[in-house]
Amino acid sequence: MATVDTAHSTAPTLRVAPSILAADFGSLAAAVDGISPGTDWLHVDVMDGHFVPNLTIGPPVVASLRAHSDLFFDTHLMITDPARYLEPFRDAGADGCTVHVEVGETAALIAQMRDLGLRVGLAANPDTPFEAIEPFLELIDLVLCMTIFPGFGGQHFMAEVLPKITRVRTAALAAGLTLDIEVDGGIDERTVVDVTRAGANVFVAGTAVFNREDPLGAVGGILRAATDERAGMAP
Ligand code: DX5
Ligand code: ZN
Repeated sequence: MATVDTAHSTAPTLRVAPSILAADFGSLAAAVDGISPGTDWLHVDVMDGHFVPNLTIGPPVVASLRAHSDLFFDTHLMITDPARYLEPFRDAGADGCTVHVEVGETAALIAQMRDLGLRVGLAANPDTPFEAIEPFLELIDLVLCMTIFPGFGGQHFMAEVLPKITRVRTAALAAGLTLDIEVDGGIDERTVVDVTRAGANVFVAGTAVFNREDPLGAVGGILRAATDERAGMAP
């Protein structure tokens, strides 16, 4: 099992980022209201039908949600041409954007996100190696380690990604970086334990939040499982 030595005092904040991909798109505002007391982040999945075979949310939906919510909008761009859409998403109210390293032009995209005042995230698919993201760690705020292949919610968590999470956290600690390490795909009260032990601290959860009878309680349950796991980790 992958583990990481994280001194409690420097460990980054544990948080759940509920993914509205699993919410009822006909009642998004109500869904967001339901989980808002339990977290400060909302995960917004943007898909273009090219980078992934699915279409979801564009800037108008983000703008409507922005008028309704003060949560940090953690905007996951599963799109082939993020350069074209970063500014519209920023203008719509995205707080942070995460682009995929697989689309290329990563250094330019990071610079563009900084210029736009966005918090900067870089995502890697399950089969993309640590070495692809390593050159950018000092330039970004968040690494998103996908624990499924992107495109759809409700897939099974891929435990083979755990060693990569630990490599990212170990590299960040060695470089003195307070990097957020986010995981996305198949996260629930059980799998969050393994990713916390591996070094992740931001937990995207769609199905395990919005497909439950009590989404707010589910957010609390995932966070509690992560907090308990960290409390038991060696300093
Ligand atoms: C899938 C998205 C995920 C998705 C996760 O490509 O990036 O954010 O909502 O859904 P669950 O939590 O159901 O695996
Ligand atoms: Zn996502």
